[in-house]
Amino acid sequence: MSETKEALNAFAIDIKSGLQSSPKTLPSMYFYDETGDALFQKIMDLDEYYLTRAEFEIFVRQKEEILKAFLGEDEGFRLVELGAGDGTKTKVLLAHFLNEGVPFTYSPIDISGSVLEQLKDDLKGELPSLKVEPIVGEYFSALEALAANDTSKEVVLFLGSNIGNFDRAAGVDFLTHVGENLSSGDMLLIGFDLMKNPQKILCAYNDKEGVTKAFNLNLLTRINNDLGADFNIDDFDHFPTYDPLTGETKSHIVSKKAQTVYIEALDESFSFDAWEAIHTEVSQKYSRKMIEAYASEAGFEIVQNFVDSNQYFVDSLWRKV
Ligand code: AVJ
Repeated sequence: MSETKEALNAFAIDIKSGLQSSPKTLPSMYFYDETGDALFQKIMDLDEYYLTRAEFEIFVRQKEEILKAFLGEDEGFRLVELGAGDGTKTKVLLAHFLNEGVPFTYSPIDISGSVLEQLKDDLKGELPSLKVEPIVGEYFSALEALAANDTSKEVVLFLGSNIGNFDRAAGVDFLTHVGENLSSGDMLLIGFDLMKNPQKILCAYNDKEGVTKAFNLNLLTRINNDLGADFNIDDFDHFPTYDPLTGETKSHIVSKKAQTVYIEALDESFSFDAWEAIHTEVSQKYSRKMIEAYASEAGFEIVQNFVDSNQYFVDSLWRKV
């Protein structure tokens, strides 16, 4: 493990406080170790997981309109992306903007320097004329640095319905904070997964191959590996729920029997009742009204909504007021 001592400490503290809570909870931000990253890549290819394809279709079919809206009255911009990923979706936009001769720089922000190096190499091969200036760091310190050093228009991408992992208050907080590091007229393109047939949503988090189950349970494997715990993964199951009244999709890990798990790094044991659930993730689904309220609460106005042909997903373009 290449984790720093501080990161490991923060992980241990969060796991401890989550397992001491009632009901028990574990933060979804810890899904993404090397195995978790690979499993999420597999999720994006699943038949059931419509989100990635829907957003990809928006970019393929509406790239002209998206570019027009990004430009407005300006002639270029800096395209900032929160979270680098593998760039599959973003590349559709990047290639189009280059083809159109738009003067722009692409700045992916990520806390992982190696992820950014990989992306930069990859883009060098595929889009050699693209100007890439990655920024290693936390989203807010990176945005702050940009605000201080760069006078060009900024367009920030926050794709994939990653916002769905925040609860309402934390989401407004997060987006307000993004806005505080932007100037009036700067833009944010943010992906939201829309409310739809509840069964379709539930299936997206409960695929028949069990990839999402493995993704959720990998959190226990990570605690075993990084904190010396003795979770027996087979004694736990994956159980997602969707509430069509609120749009809240939740993932849980359920203890299949009464059991006790020891975590060496904490020198502490945690007991689970038979069928006790641990809440691990929220993947919020949104109505158009919820998105409008979100934008205005966070200090933005909606410029334009880009929706896929199935109306599954929206990339909402916001302007900082
Ligand atoms: C990466 C947060 C958008 O919530 O849909 C996929 C993660 N969790 N399957 C989502 C996830 C279970 C995903 N996000």
